[in-house]
Amino acid sequence: MVKIVSPAFSPAVLELEPGSYLWCRCGRSKRQPFCDGAHAGTGFRPLAFEVAENCRVALCRCKHTSSEPYCDGTHAVMEGKSDEPGG
Ligand code: FES
Repeated sequence: MVKIVSPAFSPAVLELEPGSYLWCRCGRSKRQPFCDGAHAGTGFRPLAFEVAENCRVALCRCKHTSSEPYCDGTHAVMEGKSDEPGG
């Protein structure tokens, strides 16, 4: 089974405009926290989400949040216990 990669153990805090976004679930995208198609062949699929108005968000980059695509603080307990950043 292909494992999730954790690109970072902190969220990406971004200002997003209204629109549709694809959040990377596998952790292999080079455009974190967004999908670049690198999940091909892993069995993972990106998460599509919508933003209705300009907003500031904290998107998960450890890929272990329970509130996809948003950071829920899980990264604080994952660091050192899971995949190495970028690994
Ligand atoms: S970066 Fe915070 S829960 Fe993943």
